[in-house]
Amino acid sequence: MKDYQNYVNGQWVSSAKTLTIYSPINDEKLGTVPAMSQEEVDVAMAAARKALPAWRALSAYERAQYLHKAADILEERKDQIGEILAKEVSKDIKASISEVDRSAHLIRYAAEEGLRVYGSSLEGGTYEPAAKSKISLIRREPVGVVLAIAPYNYPVNLSASKIAPALIGGNVVMFKPPTQGSISGLLLAQAFAEAGLPAGVFNTITGRGSEIGDYIIEHPEVNFINFTGSTPIGQKVGKLAGIRPIMLELGGKDAAVVLEDADLDHTAKEIVSGAFSYSGQRCTAIKRVLVMDAVADQLAAKLQAEVEKLTVGDPFENKDITPVIDESSALFIEGLVQDAQKKGAVELTPYKREKNLIWPTLLDHVTTDMEIAWEEPFGPVLPIIRVSSLDEALTICNQSEYGLQSSIFTSNYPLAFDFASKLEVGTVHINSKTQRGPDNFPFLGVKGSGAGVQGIKYSIEAMTKVKSVVFDIQ
Ligand code: NAP
Ligand code: G3P
Repeated sequence: MKDYQNYVNGQWVSSAKTLTIYSPINDEKLGTVPAMSQEEVDVAMAAARKALPAWRALSAYERAQYLHKAADILEERKDQIGEILAKEVSKDIKASISEVDRSAHLIRYAAEEGLRVYGSSLEGGTYEPAAKSKISLIRREPVGVVLAIAPYNYPVNLSASKIAPALIGGNVVMFKPPTQGSISGLLLAQAFAEAGLPAGVFNTITGRGSEIGDYIIEHPEVNFINFTGSTPIGQKVGKLAGIRPIMLELGGKDAAVVLEDADLDHTAKEIVSGAFSYSGQRCTAIKRVLVMDAVADQLAAKLQAEVEKLTVGDPFENKDITPVIDESSALFIEGLVQDAQKKGAVELTPYKREKNLIWPTLLDHVTTDMEIAWEEPFGPVLPIIRVSSLDEALTICNQSEYGLQSSIFTSNYPLAFDFASKLEVGTVHINSKTQRGPDNFPFLGVKGSGAGVQGIKYSIEAMTKVKSVVFDIQ
């Protein structure tokens, strides 16, 4: 139990108001974090603005050294940060430590990628006679002050995936961790602080998004908003951003489409892993199965067998299914299951809940009049929708408000590529579960799943802007 502080202008500072963080596993009191006031936010924003010129004047190579140091510190502490992370967001301890390790590697990759941000030059050559004597020297420059806001389910990785590309691109960062996950976020911040970043280059803001969120989004010092979270909040961020550039990674309803010629044993394993890892609390979780009638019974039986193998309980015993983030989320999930049951869905594995611990639930014969066919449960519940044709599958896939990822399971690759081209999503996986990684790949959502493209190189590009310097060569 510790009273954590924010990192502002190179100092660790407290606030008059604090928030107490409890573990969703057992209500253990983990510590307190500051609830920053608007005045304190202003001080941090001013420090960032002041630090920007000197930071952007460094070479990418010089900035990369700080990131490598931060990554080394993070890696050294992956066990202790992983333990806090597991307690804070009820993620199994192995996955929690792995998230911290993955983040250290992401930071290193961003440091290296930042050395390869190249400009270009263009010679005039349009219809105007004077054009041919002009040259444009095209460079990329930092956008300025980046506000990075992260969700609870990856409080270290989805923070580092914003912070590192922003910093290597020459930006300064205001980092708002999720409240449930803020201790983990501050421990990540500590790694950047101990790497020796100059004062003001990196600052943290803790406090409930519902209280301080609008103020930081609308803050005049903010040049870019890099947000990951739910679609409703993301839409609000988009409205408040005005004409400032944003990156939004939002909710998902990833479909796994299973055709008659799929390898059903492999498919069942991939789907269960994709749907139930971290109890389904992943934006890229498989959140619906669309299976051709001809193989639906076989697949349902295989899925049931795989789900029945899942262990349930304590994240520190590396159970597969752990308590979801809070009881209100659990009740939301329960409502979706009850609606489906009422409308005729068949429970292949029985629904059971104890407070915020929900047993993995596989629902068959789900129809499109059921809420669970369309809502994002963000929990360990998977609906099976049976379809009679590929066209029907495509229609249902694209009717979703979301467009993050999809998987298709088939042995017919030409058909898979054709189907992929018709899906309104950011990424299609062929014969594997939906997932964000590898972290250097482009990662994006369309429709209600977001705006802009993450992925290390893409994030650096998004948070740098073009500067064209034109001169005459005659
Ligand atoms: P959330 O409730 O939207 O919160 C996300 C972040 O936004 C948190 O830091 C939150 O702070 C902050 N926030 C809340 N209200 C705000 C406001 N008015 N202004 C500014 N910031 C505000 O999402 P979550 O529950 O943490 O994460 C689950 C959701 O995120 C799911 O929908 C999931 O699909 C999505 N997600 C998407 C991706 C992706 O890459 N596409 C990845 C992970 C999660 P507080 O914690 O203080 O409320
Ligand atoms: O929901 C977080 C999203 O980034 C999932 O990451 O690697 O588990 O697919 P991953």
